Amino acid sequence: MPDYLSTEQAAERLSVDARTVRRYVQEGRLQGVKLKRELRVTASSVTALLTPSNGQTAALPANRIIAVVNQKGGVGKSTTSFNLAVALSRRSKRVLLVDMDPQGGASASAGIPAAQLTATIYQVLLDDSIDPMTVVRESPSGVEVLPANLDLAAAEVELFNVTLRELVLKDVLAKVRSRYDFILIDCPPNLGLLTMNALGAADQVLIPMECDFLATRGLQHLLRTITHVQKRLNRDLKIAGIVATKFDGRLRHANEILQELRTNFPDQVFGVVIKNTTRLKEAPAAGLSILDYDPHSEVAAAFTQLAQEVSHAS
Ligand SMILES: Nc1ncnc2c1ncn2[C@@H]1O[C@H](COP(=O)(O)OP(=O)(O)OP(=O)(O)O)[C@@H](O)[C@H]1O
Ligand SMILES: [Mg+2]
Repeated sequence: MPDYLSTEQAAERLSVDARTVRRYVQEGRLQGVKLKRELRVTASSVTALLTPSNGQTAALPANRIIAVVNQKGGVGKSTTSFNLAVALSRRSKRVLLVDMDPQGGASASAGIPAAQLTATIYQVLLDDSIDPMTVVRESPSGVEVLPANLDLAAAEVELFNVTLRELVLKDVLAKVRSRYDFILIDCPPNLGLLTMNALGAADQVLIPMECDFLATRGLQHLLRTITHVQKRLNRDLKIAGIVATKFDGRLRHANEILQELRTNFPDQVFGVVIKNTTRLKEAPAAGLSILDYDPHSEVAAAFTQLAQEVSHAS
């Protein structure tokens, strides 16, 4: 007698919504039966979907690691990582924000005085006897942060001779991932070893992007890199989506680029866009997320919606 799960239980295990579970049943990816007029899913088909086999990629694990990546500087990676982390935590998710940028943008946005810290992610990456939790700090907004400062710049060189140097962060996060529902990694503006470690550790990539012509060229380069990573380093890496940032809806050019993105990458561009607003520049100066600094603003609602879309992404 097979074990059956309700659609809600299956959705929870697969980290998708109940609608996606019903779609999976229609597509034959999950085995469903009607019991007392209710759709049930066999537990074994849920497990099978979570297990990689013969080159097929696994469904996303219940707790997810998301790398926030774009090699272009100043596109809103740190702003997105931090505010999305807070928005997810307000949905009762346990969230860790990992700063992988020596500039410490995510730590600074979260109000962590990382420059003064003697123990940061740098020490954890270089010494596997250090428990990462001893370095984690709680930000005023309630999100936990694995902070970074300029020390991390040395890691690029110091990790160079380490065996499997692109998978050091993966090992670090393996020690803590069961504590969290989401781990977000804020990356530096390049595709160097620190970003490769984030891509090696992640289940998904989230790409914040400004809608201008040069950004679309940068995107092609980034997508080629991700394909390369999927072949060589992390077979199960998926794209969570592209989120338009600093968006100015008054500009025809920006609207055209967004439209083009939606056409070229159907289902991979988040529905929500993060508009250009000075409120997002002011919030970090106050050490707050936009959800606390201006909770009723349009951009706070946008991050709440992004958290919802990310939670339901399959
Ligand atoms: N939606 C937005 N509207 C207005 N300003 C924004 C927005 N998002 C980010 N900014 C501002 O743009 C600047 C760059 O943002 P952020 O630091 O998040 O980008 P980044 O991609 O992490 O940069 P870097 O590549 O240097 O790490 C910051 O001053 C930030 O306050
Ligand atoms: Mg940054």
